[in-house]
Amino acid sequence: MPTILTPIRTKEDLQFEESLRPQTFDEFIGQETIKANLRIFIEAARKRGEQLDHVLLYGPPGLGKTSLAYLIAKEMGVGIKPTSGPVIERTGDLSAILTNLQKKEILFIDEIHRLHPSVEEILYSAMEDYSLDIIIGQGPGARSHKLQLKKFTLIGATTRAGRITAPLRGRFGIIHRLDYYRDEDIEKIIKRSAGLLNAAIDDQGAELIARRSRGTPRVANRLLRRVRDYADVRADGIINAKEASTALDMMEVDSLGLDDVDRKILLTIIENFGGGPVGIATIAAAIDEEKETIESIYEPFLMRIGFLERTIRGRKITAKAYEHLGFAPPSGQPNAQKKLFK
Ligand SMILES: Nc1ncnc2c1ncn2[C@@H]1O[C@H](COP(=O)(O)OP(=O)(O)O)[C@@H](O)[C@H]1O
Ligand SMILES: [Mg+2]
Repeated sequence: MPTILTPIRTKEDLQFEESLRPQTFDEFIGQETIKANLRIFIEAARKRGEQLDHVLLYGPPGLGKTSLAYLIAKEMGVGIKPTSGPVIERTGDLSAILTNLQKKEILFIDEIHRLHPSVEEILYSAMEDYSLDIIIGQGPGARSHKLQLKKFTLIGATTRAGRITAPLRGRFGIIHRLDYYRDEDIEKIIKRSAGLLNAAIDDQGAELIARRSRGTPRVANRLLRRVRDYADVRADGIINAKEASTALDMMEVDSLGLDDVDRKILLTIIENFGGGPVGIATIAAAIDEEKETIESIYEPFLMRIGFLERTIRGRKITAKAYEHLGFAPPSGQPNAQKKLFK
């Protein structure tokens, strides 16, 4: 069940994200290196009057991949056709999309790692020399016919870079990994969103929400909306640190933004596996979550805050994590830790 801290988009997010989405590169806060690079590539392509090279964006959910795809289209001054890996079921579906693309237009394929292999194969020649092999007729009389496509740009987004096949990956000229945002940047995003939502918030309020947002703009925007509801009902409508903290405590949002699953993962490793190292598949089985979900959503965040370490023999808990959960870190011998409080 999705919690308030899940970086995955909920129905309610969908309604707001349209209005909160950055409209220009300047409004897209943080990720400076990626922005600087993209700006150069876009300007160069525009100067030459050519299509932008194919772009692959990867990283955990909620960090701005879709927003960036739309921004690229805007800065290039071209149209964008959005679709997603699992939606394209047959090769014919993709062929139809490809043949309808205009010159320089952008095809955005979200969750591109979930493309069916036979569909993905069509992309290879489409990306490389803008051609499409179609088979006309059936049986021994069938003939292959090469169709020329307009020079388009493919933007692919994925949360699982490791699942992109080598031939597909190799056809992207521009590859960027989006990383979790610094708290200062999340704070700026919260203030910008508050402005758009007509919510009054002070610096400390924004800072407090930022710290619990898992470095993820989508989560930050969601927490802001919940805190705004609370402030509207319970206080005078201005969001300050005290109100933000009361509201988030009430919703059981941890001071570091840990959710139930994060805690389950950490506690399982501590209590059942002596703090690790333990394999990811074992953890997944122990807490009854999908290995894939743990790898793409939970593990990157726990590593980012320095609670989890990856070793060759598996995942290990750090002293910092023991402390946060109220355990004494192990003192040499395994399982020597005991709960400090509660
Ligand atoms: N750099 C950013 N600056 C401001 N808002 C952002 C930024 N990145 C993401 N957002 C906000 O977070 C929401 C989720 O971003 P999105 O692009 O849908 O993430 P992803 O596609 O990586 O899951 C967007 O609607 C937008 O409001
Ligand atoms: Mg997206």
